[in-house]
Amino acid sequence: MFKALLIPVLALGLSATFADEAKAKTDTAKTTAKKLDLVAGKKVYETNCVSCHGAKGKGDGPVGVNLKPKPRDFTDTARVAGEPMDKMRKAVAKGGASVGYSPLMPAWKGILKDDQIDNVLGYVLKTFSGEGTPKFETLAKAAAEKAAAKK
Ligand code: HEC
Repeated sequence: MFKALLIPVLALGLSATFADEAKAKTDTAKTTAKKLDLVAGKKVYETNCVSCHGAKGKGDGPVGVNLKPKPRDFTDTARVAGEPMDKMRKAVAKGGASVGYSPLMPAWKGILKDDQIDNVLGYVLKTFSGEGTPKFETLAKAAAEKAAAKK
């Protein structure tokens, strides 16, 4: 009798803890996302990337559709998840060929600042690959740490 009562009470207590943890997590995600300027990232995307990677990130922009291989489809979540963050950054900064991808992916170093590259990758990951992907969180955390270090 006592046991039968205890188990649901324990279960209730546990689920409340999990809910709190989950809330704390989304709160951090929200604050860190602010440091990563996704509005600026969107602008960078629309100016520099959309022609190839497409309005929906599917690699089917007006220029992109004619390329072989096609620009990366950022909605291919499994593929994006398997890609190290540093490699994605390098692909953008130094061009596709620098990481063994198509040389048709241009190098943006000199055109985009490091912050802009982070912002645009943040925008891409959050918008097309799904919010809360481990990658987006890693990027957001790094940006927040950088912003905190500057203060
Ligand atoms: C001229 C067309 C073109 C433009 C413009 C372009 N890309 Fe690409 N992008 C490509 C192609 C082609 C690939 C390589 C696909 C492959 O080899 O499988 C690629 C690959 C990438 C990759 C590597 C994929 C990965 O998973 O590591 C990233 C990241 C990327 N692009 C981001 C961007 C961003 C951000 C911009 C804008 C600043 C941009 N691209 C602009 C064509 C383009």
